[in-house]
Parts: sequence; structure tokens; C-alpha cells
Amino acid sequence: MKVVHTFEEVRDLAGGRIGLVPTMGFFHEGHLSLIKAAAESTDTVVVSVFVNPLQFNESGDLDAYPRDLDRDAALAETAGAQLLIAPADSYMYPRQHYTRIRVAGASDGMEGAYRSGHFDGVATVVAKLFAGVRPDVAFFGRKDAQQLAVVRALARDLSFPVEIRGLPIVRESDGLALSSRNIRLDGEIRGSALALSTALFAASDAFEAGERSVAALTHEAATRLGTHSGVETEYVEAATARDVAGVETIEAEVFLAVAARIGNVRLIDNVHLNPGTGLADRGVRLSEPSILYGGP
Ligand code: PAF
Repeated sequence: MKVVHTFEEVRDLAGGRIGLVPTMGFFHEGHLSLIKAAAESTDTVVVSVFVNPLQFNESGDLDAYPRDLDRDAALAETAGAQLLIAPADSYMYPRQHYTRIRVAGASDGMEGAYRSGHFDGVATVVAKLFAGVRPDVAFFGRKDAQQLAVVRALARDLSFPVEIRGLPIVRESDGLALSSRNIRLDGEIRGSALALSTALFAASDAFEAGERSVAALTHEAATRLGTHSGVETEYVEAATARDVAGVETIEAEVFLAVAARIGNVRLIDNVHLNPGTGLADRGVRLSEPSILYGGP
């Protein structure tokens, strides 16, 4: 696998059907599942590692974001990537950089309401990655369900000739959704973080038992979250997976999402509820602790 720093190098080296896995690095099994899926269905897998300053609204969060390019390159290669692009900030955003992309609708509410400008930053960097890498398929995790809807709308509205694939959330064996921020959860805080998935799984059980009222399902999840000390809930909301539109009754696929602060770590999680099958997608679970905590 080769590590490069410019889109020109990617375009010189990539051939056949190109699969792009956009990331901010510090890989866990969630990222690796995207790279593996890309390797199974495309000829050249390009992984981008770029901690995008435009999508952070707290400078402390940007500074604290974990980074280890050598580790990421080794893991990406093992998972089947051929190219890793790690562009410099000054390459992505030269001094004269005036354009911002805003996907109205899908960017509003939930994360958009709590993280002003976040999705404009995501949409802008993803558009640059699509324009620079020119992938045939791009892979995103369903953990960022609202981001996935934003990216789908971006690709559709700006006619990027790319297929967007969303893959299941990967969780620790006890249910905690993988996130690069999890390495900042230690001691008691780690236990409190489990409240998010526990609350969502309780609502999923109610959905699978036939409950279709969004008010009842969000109440179930919010009540569970509220019983945990050390958890500061920001929101518990449901919206359509396609448009991030609010609904009262679940008649199309929705995601039920939570965001909470545990100590100084902000976490998000969700489950997808499909009224067609009557099933909740809770993601997949690892049998061993994540590689985030030291290995391999
Ligand atoms: O999900 C992420 O890691 C980021 O938001 C993305 C899509 C790589 C854009 O910076």
C-alpha cells in the first residue's frame, strides 16, 4: 500500500473501479469494516485520512482528536487498501478558499442543531474528496446516520457519479458503539457510556414488539438514559433515514438517535428501525475488545 498526499498522485496510481473510504483516521474495526467492504467490491481502495478542521466547532475537540498515521497505514493495508491519501491542511484549504457547501434539510436538527456548521464542513470536505479522488463507490458508517443522509443528498444534488454505501455500526461486545473518541473514556465514565446503547436497545425491543409511535420510542430511550448518573443527554430523536425528516409514526425506515456528554466526551449512537421487516438494526458486535485499546 502506498501513502500519498495529493489527489494527482491518487489519480495517477488508481485504476479500475475506485472505492473511497473517507475517514479522519485513528482506525477501529468500524473503519476496517468499510475498507474490507470496499476491497470486496472495487479494484482500487483509496482511504483518506484527514482531520477536517472545518467540521469541528470546538477547538478543544479538534486538538484532542487522536492521530497516528503510521498505525492507520498498517491497518488500512491489512484490511485491503491500496492507497492512503493524507492531505495537508494547507493542500485541502489553501489560503484563498471561499466555497462552503450547505445541504439544507438533512443538515438541520439533531447534530446540526448542536454543532453549528458541522455538516457544512462535512459536505465541503466530502465534495472535495469526491472531486479529487473521483470514486465509483464511497463507503460510510451508519453510526453517523445524519451524515450519511447529508452525503447522499450532496452526491445526488451535485450529480457526483458515485454510489454511496452505508454500512452497519460496529460495537464492543457489551454494545458500546465504536468511536475514536472511546479512548478518552476511562474508569467510571466507560460504564456510563453504555447508557446510550442500552437506551437504544430498549427502544428497539419495543419497536420489534410492535410499537410504532415515535413519541413512545423516544420516551422509552430518554427515560432509560435519564436514569444514569454522569450522562448529560443532548437529544433523543427519530427521523427518516433518507431525508432526516421528523415523523410521528414509523411508516418508512427511521433512525432513532441519541447524543450525550459523558464527562468531557461527547458521544452519539443510533439504531435503524425498519417497519417493512419489523426489525431494528442494532449493528454488529465484536467478540474481543476493540483494537482502539492497544492492539494489534
Ligand atoms: O465520518 C468522518 O470520519 C468524517 O465526518 C468524514 C466523512 C471523513 C469527513 O471528514
